[in-house]
Amino acid sequence: MTKRVLLIISGGIAAYKSLELVRLLRKRGVAVRAVLTQSAEKFVTPLSLGVLTEDHVFGQLFDLKEEREIGHIQLSRQADLVVVAPATANILAKMANGIADDLATTLLLATDKPVLAVPAMNVRMWHHAATRRNIAQLQADGVHVMEPDSGEMACGEFGKGRMPEPEAIAAEVARLLALPLAADPLAGQPDFEGPDAPLAGRHVLVTAGPTHEPIDPVRYIANRSSGKQGFAIAAAAARAGARVTLVAGPVHLPTPAGVRRIDVETAREMLAAVEAALPADAAIMVAAVADWRTADAADQKLKKDGSGKPAPLALVENPDILAKLGKHAKRPALLVGFAAETQKIAEHAQAKLTRKGADWIVANDVSGDVMGGDTNSVHIVSGDGIESWDNLPKDAVATRLMQKVADTLSARLD
Ligand code: CTP
Repeated sequence: MTKRVLLIISGGIAAYKSLELVRLLRKRGVAVRAVLTQSAEKFVTPLSLGVLTEDHVFGQLFDLKEEREIGHIQLSRQADLVVVAPATANILAKMANGIADDLATTLLLATDKPVLAVPAMNVRMWHHAATRRNIAQLQADGVHVMEPDSGEMACGEFGKGRMPEPEAIAAEVARLLALPLAADPLAGQPDFEGPDAPLAGRHVLVTAGPTHEPIDPVRYIANRSSGKQGFAIAAAAARAGARVTLVAGPVHLPTPAGVRRIDVETAREMLAAVEAALPADAAIMVAAVADWRTADAADQKLKKDGSGKPAPLALVENPDILAKLGKHAKRPALLVGFAAETQKIAEHAQAKLTRKGADWIVANDVSGDVMGGDTNSVHIVSGDGIESWDNLPKDAVATRLMQKVADTLSARLD
């Protein structure tokens, strides 16, 4: 049966991306009916939306009575999913408070269908206490809220609040509607064997990238992790149908389609985000977490004192996130760690497996250009022995690993 989306477009510059969203959903065979708020009509026209949706485009409340014998209750319930994209701070505030003062908000109050909100706003509006409160309220009410992207904003500022790309929204819609995977979700990506979506119904938690540990307001301790392998794994898990939470350290990579991304800076923030994301069926800890942080990050920039003495940097150990999950009351059914090794790979990985309470350690052979490169040679060390995959693109490592995760989870949980 054709799946139906009611797309509510509120007034933000990102509204132009919603036209592409409609096109992508229509390509997947989803019927889209669009509703524009009054301010959205300043950014996209009912005409272009009408052409793309091949349907009437709804604007004001009285449209319903005058143009069609269709009430707002009916309109809000004919859909399988209601999507608000872009969702401005204003419409999110109305939704969180049950305000219904135009057609869009009336439909949102009248619907009994799942709702996906895709926020788009200025970074300060996104971080404002009122928006934080509204988002928390909406999530508590069961609304699915997509995490905005970070980057340059239309207003010239830089930060979080950009609407995710239409491909990412379409992937999230497909997941919520339980559509089968697209035939070619990402050109050139390897496909999964067996069922189309071997991780459907599973929650996969991934950490990726480095962490930055502040020394003072301008300096930090970091490492050269690019985040590519972790992002590829999150993307592969989403393609395999999983609900994916990606906790990412500071990296310059786009959010993979269908992935919920939480950006963090430090190891302690990463631990908090990981614990908040539990329960998960599988956790894949790919992040290169800094082993140490400064005992006390200085509030002011540290100055040289001219004495030539070593810098006064006291370091303390960071929490080991993988090891904490290994002993956690909500330990995922499958816990996978990564390790960078140059020698005695099996021996070192085996020791790490036991020490951290993981099920597998994926040992990277880092003698080549793995940090930042596009290929990887890995050895998967588990209680059952070692399996080696030589010189594969990071995407292929990710797909094979997710296939193995899916097979193992169905053997353990089903
Ligand atoms: N890890 C973690 N939290 C830390 C340190 C590491 O979760 N504070 C996780 C990493 O995400 C990875 C694994 O533990 O899954 C790597 O362990 P680690 O002991 O840091 O291995 P190496 O980087 O190989 O370092 P070393 O061999 O020096 O111990």
